Amino acid sequence: MEPAVATKRRVSLKFFMLNARFQVRDVGCSGMKAGKIEMESGGSCQYQYIKLDHYYFCLQQSPIIFAWLLFCKREDLLTIQPWLKKNLAPWTLSYFRYHWKMFMRNVWHISIFVRCRLGLRDNVQTVRLPVYGQFGMAVHKGYKIFNLRSGLATKIFDSDVNQSSIVREIEQLKKVSQIDFAPSLTRWDLAERWYQEEYIRSNIPLAHRSPDSVTFLKAFYQEVVPCMNSLMVFQPPEAKDLMVCLKELMGIPEIKRLSTEELTGSEFKKIKSFLDSMVECLRVEGNILVNLVFTHGDFCPANMLNTRQGIKFIDWESAGYRSALFDFYSYFFYRIVSSKHSVENVVSEVNEGLPNFISGVAMKMPEIAYSLSHFEKVYRWMYYVEEVCKGLERERTDKNLNILEDILKYIEAFNRYEEILVDKEQSVKCVE
Ligand SMILES: Nc1ncnc2c1ncn2[C@@H]1O[C@H](COP(=O)(O)OP(=O)(O)O)[C@@H](O)[C@H]1O
Ligand SMILES: [Mg+2]
Repeated sequence: MEPAVATKRRVSLKFFMLNARFQVRDVGCSGMKAGKIEMESGGSCQYQYIKLDHYYFCLQQSPIIFAWLLFCKREDLLTIQPWLKKNLAPWTLSYFRYHWKMFMRNVWHISIFVRCRLGLRDNVQTVRLPVYGQFGMAVHKGYKIFNLRSGLATKIFDSDVNQSSIVREIEQLKKVSQIDFAPSLTRWDLAERWYQEEYIRSNIPLAHRSPDSVTFLKAFYQEVVPCMNSLMVFQPPEAKDLMVCLKELMGIPEIKRLSTEELTGSEFKKIKSFLDSMVECLRVEGNILVNLVFTHGDFCPANMLNTRQGIKFIDWESAGYRSALFDFYSYFFYRIVSSKHSVENVVSEVNEGLPNFISGVAMKMPEIAYSLSHFEKVYRWMYYVEEVCKGLERERTDKNLNILEDILKYIEAFNRYEEILVDKEQSVKCVE
């Protein structure tokens, strides 16, 4: 036999053996789809995922598929961890260096993957989940697993998430599936604690993260405003007394918790004093009617995907009725909190973007547009209170992010924003 042919055969024999070893373990799961293995505890069959660089990869996929994923599906992998993406000028030294590093990292990951499959390595973090996908990530309240072949994204809830909140999230998704820029819900299984939605093939919408205000606002007008406008009419708006809204917001358990002894840390004190001052400011405004509309609740570039059919929004778990400028301000304040854009810059961007947004609202809902332009301050402050309340609710359940730190960043941005507006008002008065 020629040496080259012999090597080729040895390589393919090795791959065959890798698969064969796994299939021997698969046999334990009678009546199940190929690829499932039996849990050590003897319970239901599960898929095993290993954690590499913030990603989770299913060990039941073949090493060839795994290599294809790393080398050919880089864009899909980067979309879920966008901070790993570098925008380097092509054919420069740093471009080559980056790609060489990526290549070596992929080779290293393949070697870990193969060793894990052979049972030669056990110091890698693993999780067992009931659904198959090639890769996934840890998300709020669980994991999201992506299957590129079937075009599905599955959210699997952690065991400590209560059934009622899973049902609520599924109900929410059933409702928003009707929106053309939301993913459609395909299947769910309450017993196994997961739901599936369509996997949206996309890339990162870079213009929405651009530090340049012109690029950013252009993308905002073209792609975001139409989505916000159609979301506002998706469910009938509600007009509510400002004081009633405040009472409801301040009545949530997370706010009541702020006054208990267990939360005496300086962070909680800061949050409480900010909320108290905001509520006081709003009380001064008196009894006015504010418009509540259906909002996404986490309307920011991290939840936007750029597809061939335009922008799509994912992560609707926080959707619900809120003050009518909630999504608008979320989108702009996210710039300050996530990317360290200056508050001064964002003040000018809002000053330009808000009238444009309101004139779009005026076409379909003139009375809401009137309220937005007359009580701009009230809607902004309402947003502040709602954003902090939302953060406090999430802080109790999020194991991946430091939500408390985020809330403090938001409060700092809100305070700075108000300071700038007061300074501007004063300088206008001085000129007059
Ligand atoms: N249906 C989907 N199609 C494509 N990518 C998705 C989908 N759902 C989530 N993702 C990707 O996974 C990431 C995290 O999911 P997300 O639901 O936003 O989690 P979290 O609640 O932690 O923010 C998103 O930023 C996105 O890149
Ligand atoms: Mg998200």
